[in-house]
Amino acid sequence: MKAVKVEASLTYEVLIEKGLLSSAGRLIKNIHKGEKTVIVSDSNVFPFYGEKLKASLENEGYNVLSFVFPAGESSKNTDTLVELWEFLAKNHITRSDALVALGGGVTGDLTGFAAATFLRGIKYIGIPTTLLSMVDSSVGGKTAVDLKGGKNLAGAFYQPSLVICDPDTLDTLSECIFADGMAEVIKYGMISLPDFLGVLETEADICDIIETCVKAKRDIVNEDEKDLGVRQLLNFGHTPAHGIELLSEFTVSHGSAVAIGMMIITKASVKAGLCDKDALTILEKLLKKYSLPTGTVFSPEEISKAALNDKKRAGGSITLVIPEKAGKCVLKKTDVSLLNDFISGAWDK
Ligand SMILES: NC(=O)c1ccc[n+]([C@@H]2O[C@H](COP(=O)([O-])OP(=O)(O)OC[C@H]3O[C@@H](n4cnc5c(N)ncnc54)[C@H](O)[C@@H]3O)[C@@H](O)[C@H]2O)c1
Ligand SMILES: [Zn+2]
Repeated sequence: MKAVKVEASLTYEVLIEKGLLSSAGRLIKNIHKGEKTVIVSDSNVFPFYGEKLKASLENEGYNVLSFVFPAGESSKNTDTLVELWEFLAKNHITRSDALVALGGGVTGDLTGFAAATFLRGIKYIGIPTTLLSMVDSSVGGKTAVDLKGGKNLAGAFYQPSLVICDPDTLDTLSECIFADGMAEVIKYGMISLPDFLGVLETEADICDIIETCVKAKRDIVNEDEKDLGVRQLLNFGHTPAHGIELLSEFTVSHGSAVAIGMMIITKASVKAGLCDKDALTILEKLLKKYSLPTGTVFSPEEISKAALNDKKRAGGSITLVIPEKAGKCVLKKTDVSLLNDFISGAWDK
């Protein structure tokens, strides 16, 4: 079994192994001595894995409750959060009990925020079941729900007590959702892991991929838990991506938008003489290998305008993540008025 230790405001481990779900109860018992556990899951994931997890928890003597909500981003809101809080209250959940998030990033973000706020904070354990949630959202302690005014606007930094990744659960994911996760995997390579980009060109082992990405995110988050500095590197490709997601009314998935966003920024950086040309060749090859898009129908003007509505903008400037070569990105503070000019470079012949 692979174990990655994360030392944030709380120290916890991310465990990675195929088949680990059936040992979840035993693993959780090591860090949670309370009486009750509450499985929080969505309507797609619970039917696949809920009973298996429940049996594993009951085997360790826990009294297990389950809260299942309709799958999808549209459930990551205050209505579902209030329903979950009320469910916990009705079932007399105390600070010595724990929540277990079984699902993708939506389930993890919602459960984490409920755990951060119910009784001013109770323990939670993450069991991510999408590639994106294994390599990205389950590490780093960002929890949130969406508001009508925008995504992830109400949330907290709150760390899980344990994360259990069972790559066997990825077998039931659709190809598109798996590819979405691969966009973030390629992102880690582009930001800081040149050798890993080479590994991704081969038939890499999924446990190794997850471990490498979790370590990369851990290292960045360790340095900057509250997202004030280097953590912004994780936004590589994300500024144009948010613009594209908005323009497409979210018909372009997040991972696809990130893939296109990384292409735009890398092309523009090459054009501006900031980035080695090979970086673009390597990035494009990997995105194609993992069935991700590399271009968009939207114009640079449309994308920069939409992107600037994004919350990651601070005052009159934005911090762009610029690749210098494959496996190395840097942060560059840019005046918002220059974003359009910069990304337009990606459209030049
Ligand atoms: N907290 C963070 O740091 C962070 C980072 C990145 C993204 N996020 C958030 O994560 C969310 C996106 O994550 P996601 O793509 O995992 O979304 P998701 O949880 O909605 O999962 C995507 C879809 O896959 C289904 N699914 C999940 N696991 C499955 C499985 N094993 N088999 C079959 N179907 C399965 C889900 O029911 C859902 O329909 C967004 O809300 C985003 O804001 C958070
Ligand atoms: Zn992302």
